[in-house]
Amino acid sequence: MSTADPAAHLMNTYGRLPMTVSHGQGVYVWDTSGKRYVDALAGIAVNTLGHNHPKLVPALQDQVSKIMHSCNYYHIPLQQQLADKLVELSGMSNVFFCNSGLEANEAALKMARKFGHDKGIEKPEIVVYDKAFHGRSIATLSATGNAKIQQGFGPLVEGFIRVPMNDIAAIEKATAHNPNVVAVFFETIQGEGGINPMSADYLRAIRKLCDERDWLLMIDEVQCGIGRTGKWFAHQWAGIHADVMPLAKGLGSGVPIGAVVAGPKAAGIFQPGNHGTTFGGNPLAMRAGVETIRIMEEDGLLENASRVGAYLKNAFQRELGHVLGFKEIRGNGLMIGIDLDRPCGPLMGQALQAGLLLSVTADSVIRLLPALTMNESEADEVVALLVPLVKEFLATSAKA
Ligand SMILES: Cc1ncc(COP(=O)(O)O)c(C=O)c1O
Repeated sequence: MSTADPAAHLMNTYGRLPMTVSHGQGVYVWDTSGKRYVDALAGIAVNTLGHNHPKLVPALQDQVSKIMHSCNYYHIPLQQQLADKLVELSGMSNVFFCNSGLEANEAALKMARKFGHDKGIEKPEIVVYDKAFHGRSIATLSATGNAKIQQGFGPLVEGFIRVPMNDIAAIEKATAHNPNVVAVFFETIQGEGGINPMSADYLRAIRKLCDERDWLLMIDEVQCGIGRTGKWFAHQWAGIHADVMPLAKGLGSGVPIGAVVAGPKAAGIFQPGNHGTTFGGNPLAMRAGVETIRIMEEDGLLENASRVGAYLKNAFQRELGHVLGFKEIRGNGLMIGIDLDRPCGPLMGQALQAGLLLSVTADSVIRLLPALTMNESEADEVVALLVPLVKEFLATSAKA
């Protein structure tokens, strides 16, 4: 049955733009009317390898014809293969597989609580951050630092202490004389919160604090991980290790997947019966993860993300740096935020009309998260499409 409204029977959870996706190739997407878009969003940091990648697609087709799902009653060799790789790349020790970012974070929060209970802490508390985004389950939205997302879903899960980013005195003060603290939980670069990076100094100071106080350092790399910043995991720029690292989004290059990677301090927390999921670690998602990483290595995509990311940032700085209303460019590699001095939500629809996919987050930040395969000439197309739109928008809209 077809209806005129393409979302007539869907729950009304998304404010969708007037575009109906047909297919994609590389960093381009086409709608059902045949119009082409430059995709600078990659499904919100999911399509690491772009669309219809010539190495990924045959591998997935092969996997579909072999086996897509069994279940976790049995050994699944591809789980071991992907876990080996994640352990090697992170310097951590064990992995649990699930299906999405919030699931990975939910598992991390359970781990932190059990870490506390195992030490005799009855009411464990976890430090979280202003403007954080960790997902939309009840626990992860409670950890999220955005009142709009929490509104209407109380009572929230208790046991979180909220602090500002990059302020070591603030976390010292908020946790002083509190024996119930078990973990610190944050994104290395906040994504939904507006592309806000933790400084390398702050990351190192938090690592030290966690070591001194026997807390878990839990780093949500769901959006900023898997090569997006030019290292496998964004916190590696600070030369530190996490104890718990949730992953998702880009790990499967479009196939739903989540993972929680644990270091030695956290790897033994979960025991049989403590946690599980039906779909987690299914062979299709595992193959997508194994192939995504293999292709990233083969094609030098970390180096590409760094190079093309710097190229884009330089171009925007050059073209927009002097424009009234432009504040700054933040981010690293192909995780870029262009901060304006006013709300700029309408730019998302205007970009769409111009043939460019991007998002606006935290009201005033234009967010670019293209495939890690994007090259300089494709980046030039992004700049050529976006710069005039931003200039026009700033010239014709009022400052907040
Ligand atoms: C940092 C971070 N954590 C968690 C999530 C939630 O992931 P998912 O939407 O897969 O549940 C997101 C999604 O945007 C995210 O950016």
